[in-house]
Amino acid sequence: MAKILVTGAAGFIGSHTSDLLLAEGHAVVGVDNFRTGRRENLSAALHSTGFTLHELDVAVPGALAKLVAAEQPDAIIHLAALVSVQESIADPALNFSLNVHASQFVAEAARLHGVNRVVFASSAAIYGDAAERPIRESAEKRPVSPYGAAKLAAEALLLGHGACYGFTVRCQRYFNVFGPRQDPSSPYSGVISIFARCDREGRPVTIYGDGRQTRDFIAVRDVARANLLAATRPGVVSGAANICTGRATSLLDLAGIFAARHAGAAAPVHRPARAGDIVHSLGDPAAAAAELGFTARMGVAEGLAELINGPAVPVLS
Ligand code: UD1
Repeated sequence: MAKILVTGAAGFIGSHTSDLLLAEGHAVVGVDNFRTGRRENLSAALHSTGFTLHELDVAVPGALAKLVAAEQPDAIIHLAALVSVQESIADPALNFSLNVHASQFVAEAARLHGVNRVVFASSAAIYGDAAERPIRESAEKRPVSPYGAAKLAAEALLLGHGACYGFTVRCQRYFNVFGPRQDPSSPYSGVISIFARCDREGRPVTIYGDGRQTRDFIAVRDVARANLLAATRPGVVSGAANICTGRATSLLDLAGIFAARHAGAAAPVHRPARAGDIVHSLGDPAAAAAELGFTARMGVAEGLAELINGPAVPVLS
């Protein structure tokens, strides 16, 4: 069993990843500064003897390295980040600090204290408006937002340090992650969390642009499993892989799934397309299958049903 340090442990993906690692018997050192992470997300983890929580800002020079020196984890899963494309456009300096500078501190902590593996929360946003579909990892990278640019820079920093100083780096290029605990409360929140909240409150959803843009939506429980594999699977070598399903859903289709739940639901409100918004994002999942043994199990319809109704309860015979 391994000891894994998870940055952003109180966040959406971090808390699901911590829960899964603990369920598999690993020890988890959770790190969060609670800028956007929430303690409630860790209510299960905090009851586990294998879990410790440290309130710490990864973007503060030396802070993480000190903890890594004390804890000596086998791997770091670096999920602490500014997660919104729109927020990166509003505050590019904060984006640089949280998504580039902090990643450099992770690389430095791994180098100084002999961490074997670093798993990094990269993003489909590094590809920008890629011409090929589905997007393979070799596609040209032309980010169209400070967020995408920062994730690409951080990949290069971590992979370069890993190659030079001898630790394995896995860059997880997440496509659009959704599921329980995704915070819907900010204009920067993920679209499914916002639509689910509109659904609960009986309000119409807003669609930016014509709604024909598509995304490869992946359930957070699948993403947590991809992180577990990247951090613990024996024989994994450095590299980057899409974490996606290989299936595209348009915003109009998504709004339709929610509308179908209520007779006479209000029609979506259309607003102009957002700056920095990618039109089509669909990943090729083959590399993650080959390199990590990861294949997504949950489709959008199933994931949405779980988000709206809670996890399916197995029938005991
Ligand atoms: C998302 C993630 C980002 C991840 C990237 C990978 C969030 C907040 N962002 O970015 O971390 O790296 O995927 O692909 O989870 N939209 C609406 N109405 C709304 C909100 C959004 O129409 O109320 C549209 C947006 O204009 C966009 C699409 O929905 O076309 C998805 O937007 P969003 O959920 O913010 O995610 P991405 O920008 O794709």
